[in-house]
Amino acid sequence: MGFDEKAATWDASKRRRELAKGVAQGVKDSISLDKSMQILDFGAGTGLLTREIIESVASVTGVDSSEKMLEKFREIGDSCITAHCDINKYQPNRLFDGIISSMTMHHIEDIEALFLKLYSLLKPGGFIAIADLREEDGTFHDGGNEGVCHFGFDTKKLEDIAKSAGFKSVKSETVYSVSKGEREYPIFLLTAKK
Ligand SMILES: C[S@@+](CC[C@H](N)C(=O)[O-])C[C@H]1O[C@@H](n2cnc3c(N)ncnc32)[C@H](O)[C@@H]1O
Repeated sequence: MGFDEKAATWDASKRRRELAKGVAQGVKDSISLDKSMQILDFGAGTGLLTREIIESVASVTGVDSSEKMLEKFREIGDSCITAHCDINKYQPNRLFDGIISSMTMHHIEDIEALFLKLYSLLKPGGFIAIADLREEDGTFHDGGNEGVCHFGFDTKKLEDIAKSAGFKSVKSETVYSVSKGEREYPIFLLTAKK
């Protein structure tokens, strides 16, 4: 099932809502958000992460390849803007103060190209705060691994990719853990500055 089909029931999952809250807390603990900031959320989906930070910033632009997910995102309010496209092909006519994302990077094949793209989308001094799974064994997605390009990430390798793209002050830390039965899936937050 693709994300268009999942959009209607996406927010019904308490596990997803709690994960977004945990990631948002990690973002707020690492970054000083302020009401002047224009933020980009890539793979924004229905806006579970955006909802948690929208009151702390000026606007959030949700970029997503699923139009049905973005229909839900638009319901958040007037300070939420949408762009229906692949993040690696996104070409806005302005730059952002910061970029956030949760649980999307493992759906993107070319991570080197992604970090170069994110760097190009930021104002000087702008930040990234990207959350995703640490390396897992392919059991995280209950419904199968269609559309999954990476079984989580080795954060040391990701940090090196971010540095190669030009980012400074690159760090990652575990900010949350998803429990499924007996298993725990730690979620990291990678932060860096342009
Ligand atoms: C697992 S969902 C996460 C959604 C949201 N961030 C959340 O935490 O609920 C991944 C989202 O990324 C989007 N997506 C996947 N690949 C993408 C790409 N290359 N560019 C933009 N969006 C993408 C999907 O359509 C989906 O909405």
